[in-house]
Amino acid sequence: MNNTLFVGKVFLNFDTLFSTNEYAIDLLSKSKPSEGTVISAHHQTAGRGQYGSRWYSEGGKAITLSVILRPIFLNISQQFDLNIAVALAVFDFVCINATDVDLHVKWPNDIYIGNKKLGGILIQNSISNRKIASSVVGIGLNVNQLHFSPELPNPTSLLLETKHEFDIRKLIEDLCLSLEVRYLQLKAGKIEALRNDYYQILYKFQIPTKYERAGGNQFVGIITGISPEGRLCVQNERGVIEVFGLKEIKILL
Ligand code: BTN
Repeated sequence: MNNTLFVGKVFLNFDTLFSTNEYAIDLLSKSKPSEGTVISAHHQTAGRGQYGSRWYSEGGKAITLSVILRPIFLNISQQFDLNIAVALAVFDFVCINATDVDLHVKWPNDIYIGNKKLGGILIQNSISNRKIASSVVGIGLNVNQLHFSPELPNPTSLLLETKHEFDIRKLIEDLCLSLEVRYLQLKAGKIEALRNDYYQILYKFQIPTKYERAGGNQFVGIITGISPEGRLCVQNERGVIEVFGLKEIKILL
């Protein structure tokens, strides 16, 4: 990586790995990889998604990588701020490369074009003395894929959305730079600016939308913001703002 200070300066590229996140976690347990180390794979045999799900991508046609960060300046209560910075970084680099697409971040950090999922982020933190000692930031993004696992409800790719193929290596360079920029903004304590930028790109922010609570109960609500711990604040039909954690609410598309 020529265009960054530290993200991607150490770049470990594999043809096949089970999961770049698992590899990074293993590396952290055995050695002291430098901050910004990137582990990238053409193909993952057991890619991990959020909530214990699997992440599928076609070999050589997607971005599947993990970045090792050491955000020791963040308390455990600030974990969601790292999510915000990473989601913004992915948004930024896609935006540069694919103009004219309806790009958003769906809470907490899915990358959406229109109502379809382009990519996802899985951040796995290691805590020490109530600080985030290290973080493995896993990013999966569908780039030149035309075919998807039938298990995925609404996938899309950059190729499908823009009708042209992308150079994955060049995209990864742009992603490393965007990550570095947003991470340094976080490190500089610019949380308010990051939060404001996140609201600008948040899927269905301030738009009346149908939701389903974990118990199956449906309602029309409006996202009004994100709590400091990263929970979704939704105003219901009675004007009351309810606060939801992961898996406690689903947007009905
Ligand atoms: C999601 O479920 O939306 C998160 C998907 C994250 C997938 C990426 S691909 C690279 C990295 N390695 C993994 O095993 N998972 C993440």
